[in-house]
This record gives sequence, C-alpha cells and structure tokens, in this order.
Amino acid sequence: MKKVAIVGAGRVGETTAQFLAEQEICQEVVLIDIREDAPQGVALDILQTSPFFRFDTRVVGSNDPAAMAGAGLVVITAGVPRKPGMSRSDVLETNVAIIDGILDDVMRHAPDARILMVTNPVDVLTWRAWQRTGWPRERVFGQAGVLDASRMATFIAMATGFSTRDITTIVLGGHGDSMVPLPRFCTVNGVPVSHFLDQSQIRDIIQRTRDGGAEILALRKNSSAYDAPGASVAAMVDAIAHDRRRLLPCVAILDGEYGLTDIAMGVPCVLDHRGVSRVVELELTEEERGWFAESAAAVAADIGRLKAGSG
Ligand code: 2OP
Repeated sequence: MKKVAIVGAGRVGETTAQFLAEQEICQEVVLIDIREDAPQGVALDILQTSPFFRFDTRVVGSNDPAAMAGAGLVVITAGVPRKPGMSRSDVLETNVAIIDGILDDVMRHAPDARILMVTNPVDVLTWRAWQRTGWPRERVFGQAGVLDASRMATFIAMATGFSTRDITTIVLGGHGDSMVPLPRFCTVNGVPVSHFLDQSQIRDIIQRTRDGGAEILALRKNSSAYDAPGASVAAMVDAIAHDRRRLLPCVAILDGEYGLTDIAMGVPCVLDHRGVSRVVELELTEEERGWFAESAAAVAADIGRLKAGSG
C-alpha cells in the first residue's frame, strides 16, 4: 500500500503513525488534524526517529482534509476520549458529530479508500461510517478486538509465566463493558489455557480484559491507552497492506452472521487487500451465545440512540 491517512493526530494517531513508519508498512503516512500546526509537529517528530529505526517512510502532517487524496486506507482516530468514570458510550453524541464531518471528507477526497474506525464508541461509529458512506462492508470496519485480545494475552502471560509470543486469544462482541473474551479459544501454543489456569484465574482474566481500557485510564488519569491501541491498528493495516489474509477479531458490519443484521461488532474476520473479505462464524456454546447477545444488545441500544437522535 502506498499511502495511509490518519485523521486525528492525538496520541493514538501518533503512535499508529510511528508504528506504520517504523515498520515501513506503507510508503507514506499522512496525519490530518484540525489543530493548527499540530499534525505537522507530530509528523516531524516521528520523522526524526528515522535515523534510529532506519525507515524511509514519508510522514507528513496537514490541516487540509484534501491531503488524504490517494490513500488506500483512512484510519479515523479523531474525537474526544472518555474521562475516568465514563463509559465509551458516554462520548457517543460528541464523537458522532466529529465523525460525520470526517466521513464526508473521506467520501469527497478518498472515495476508493477503506475506512478503519478507531474512535469510540467504535462499534456504533463503524456502523455510522457504513451507513453514512453507503460503502460495501468489506471497506468499512473498526479496531477493537485486536487490542482486547492483546490485553487478554498479556494477562494470560502474567498469570502463566509464558511468553506472549505463544499465546493466542480471541475477544468478540462490542468494545465495551460487555465484550466477550473467549477462553475456550485461547491457547499457549495450541495447549488450552485451562491446562495451566483454574476457572477462578480465567474468570479474573476475563474481567480484567473487559476492564482493560478503564484500568489504564484510571492509572494514567489524564489519558486513555494509546501504545497498545496504536500497535493494534498497525497490525490491522499491515494485514491489509500486505494482503496477509490474517484471521483477526475486527468490528465488522453483520449481515446475518451470528443472527444479526444492521449492527457492527467484534467478530473474527479475514483481513486482506480488500479489507474485511470474510466474517467467520464460530459455533458458540449456549453460555457464550448469551454473552454475545448481551453485548449485541448494548451496541444496538447505542445505535438506537443514534437513530433516534438523527431521526
Ligand atoms: C481502550 O480500550 C481507548 O477504547 C480504548 O483503551
């Protein structure tokens, strides 16, 4: 992929740009932000790491949305983050107003791009992006499950002492308090985690994963997480840019899968050059189906709020 545009040069936008540049995932990264001079400053700062990381990726900043022209992928990170004590849904109304303007810019300047939504509440805003653009669902998706799965893998590593390299995890559902970590599909190099951890340890890991973003926000106090979110976005961009056909949990528009339509939420997806080329349906147990339905109800309630607000 030649060019990736990142709208929002805040912390997540910045770390995403740094990882994309450092790993030479694309040839050019454009950071776009309405704050005067800010994206230019971020881009210059990142460029000045190139002697250390030895990359040739071009990194530029701009206040002009037209700078996204020619991008194969537009990553949207702009918006207000939640404050301690708030849920991701609490920033819905504010962020939807910001996102709508950006989506119009994307339709105008990068009509062939794919959209990777990062701004929270990510499931609802991914749905909004799909609805507002009218683009096929393979080109409109969001990041959440890759981050949640990386948190779960980290917690399993901390509990078992194994390297995260060998730990595979999967987290589905909405990126909220009712997300659905699936320990049944988590392994240490193919060995189920239940071989190493008892049920109470697994339950603790599930809860800590659900609270993963809030835990970091409570510790940092003045900022949400951004290192792992940036790395998660970069992993998704890498899968698309290199047509890797990776199976990753992504926020996808559902069209009958898991018995749902007209909703976006985290499900296993195949990521390739098209974007989300396939949604994979897992056979869930009754208990897992219950968790998934609860999570879907929370996302659907937020989508309902949005529909009511705009209708
Ligand atoms: C997180 O989980 C901010 O939603 C983001 O850290």
